[in-house]
Amino acid sequence: MRHWWEDAVFYQEYPRSFADSNGDGIGDLAGITGKLGYLEGLGVDALWISPFFKSPMKDFGYDVSDYRDVDPMFGDLEDIKVLLAEAKARGLRVVLDLVANHSSDEHPWFVEARSSRDAPRHDWYIWVPETGRPPNNWKAVFELGTAWHSNPATGERYLGTFTRHQPEFDWRNPEVRKAFYDVMRYWYGLGVDGFRLDVATAYFKDAKLRSNPLSLKVSPDFFQKHLYDRNGPEFHEVFREMREVADAAGERVLIGETHGQDPVLAASCHGESGDELNMAFNFEFLYRRWGAARFRESARRWYGLLPEGAWPNFTLSNHDQPRHAWRYRGRSGGETDARARVAAAMLLTLRGTPFLYYGEEIGMLCERLPRSALRDPLGLATWPLRALGRDPERTPMQWNDREGAGFTTARPWLPLNSDYRSRNVAAQEADPSSLLSWYKSLIALRRARPELREGGIEFLDLHPDVLAYERAAPPADGGPDRRVLVLLNFASKSRTIALEKGARALLGTARPAGTVLGAGEIRLGPCEAAIAEIVG
Ligand code: GLC
Ligand code: CA
Repeated sequence: MRHWWEDAVFYQEYPRSFADSNGDGIGDLAGITGKLGYLEGLGVDALWISPFFKSPMKDFGYDVSDYRDVDPMFGDLEDIKVLLAEAKARGLRVVLDLVANHSSDEHPWFVEARSSRDAPRHDWYIWVPETGRPPNNWKAVFELGTAWHSNPATGERYLGTFTRHQPEFDWRNPEVRKAFYDVMRYWYGLGVDGFRLDVATAYFKDAKLRSNPLSLKVSPDFFQKHLYDRNGPEFHEVFREMREVADAAGERVLIGETHGQDPVLAASCHGESGDELNMAFNFEFLYRRWGAARFRESARRWYGLLPEGAWPNFTLSNHDQPRHAWRYRGRSGGETDARARVAAAMLLTLRGTPFLYYGEEIGMLCERLPRSALRDPLGLATWPLRALGRDPERTPMQWNDREGAGFTTARPWLPLNSDYRSRNVAAQEADPSSLLSWYKSLIALRRARPELREGGIEFLDLHPDVLAYERAAPPADGGPDRRVLVLLNFASKSRTIALEKGARALLGTARPAGTVLGAGEIRLGPCEAAIAEIVG
């Protein structure tokens, strides 16, 4: 049986930056609700909304102080109910972000836990006795200091591997598990379609608290291999329990954020018998350099690693890494735009669920921000190393060319990108040759062609610079497979390839639908993307 998330195109919203409905410079839930028509027009099927729960915002919502309520900055419970209802009316699914590895240090659970060793919830978190030194070399990665933060009231230290404001739960404690499963049931009851699980493979730390081995790489691990402070295999048991809770609520999706760039770990999150997460992010594409062979190898490997029956997914950008249009920028604006089209065509025609990040459909870029504009704790701690701060990929959505870019009437919480007057939704909606129109066409084609959604995939070795594959599936009424050919020239020069069979274009950057691609040699233009139906 096929599940809705296997056919869906997901769209990630960073709520602070999507649309501000009340003129305080910060995006909010009513802002998102106001843009559902836009998302429907884009053609996406499901939203993943980054955290909007009550939070002191030390890590911009990834530090939750009430898992069942909305932060006043984003609205209130009524606003999320309205959002859910209006999304449903438009056929859009909504997935929330569950930050279950840690809470905020202002969560009442932690306030209680830190007050006394005898407090009922003390053991919900991870503690070591204060000895004047941390017990190992684990780091708070957004502060670059030790992960063990002192708590004089109990004469102990607690664990926080992101910031000191994000104390980590002890997932070995059954009460913690029950509390989170209840939170999940609560949101399922309100109609949410699933969760993206924040740092889901980090729930279990080494019971012996061994020090991590050192590594030579600064990114993403800050000179350590996270062997002991994350990724303890007990997470499998928790995933199975979460899955039971999800399945009991009907068809809900669980999508795990895994740590690091490890597709083996990501693949394992699906469970050997398909009883764990429905999907786990494989972040390899976020770190790949531009090049057909690099993406082909990565995708091939991912397909090969997934256990039988598991469904793949792909993503190029999110709120933690520089946007891909920026990572793959060319020597000119034209080349940057052309590459963004190739990347979009790849993401939306590979076998697996695509995850888009808000603004990628208009080719939003990243810019260096002045120190005074930085908000991200990681960016502040590592300034001026621009590669590490995450503010540049979180700047406000560019809706139009007016003051505030249609995002806000106030001063936005992060500066707008300087290109917003020319790069914005309004301009691109009016232009059939824009990147936005390209995304819409790709999404519409994916929706129309079962081959692109559920078909098998076979890579073709036509040229080292050309990522080429066939997607094939039987038509609904039986008969031989229908086959779609995807040709993506990653080079900024023409490339000649030889086709075995003739094809008719369905969509292309240079060949309009209906154009015939004859068998034999054909020349692909610079960064040309062509999707065609194989005939005969
Ligand atoms: C995840 C989130 C990131 C957050 C971190 C701590 O990696 O994607 O934004 O800072 O977890 O919750
Ligand atoms: Ca607002």
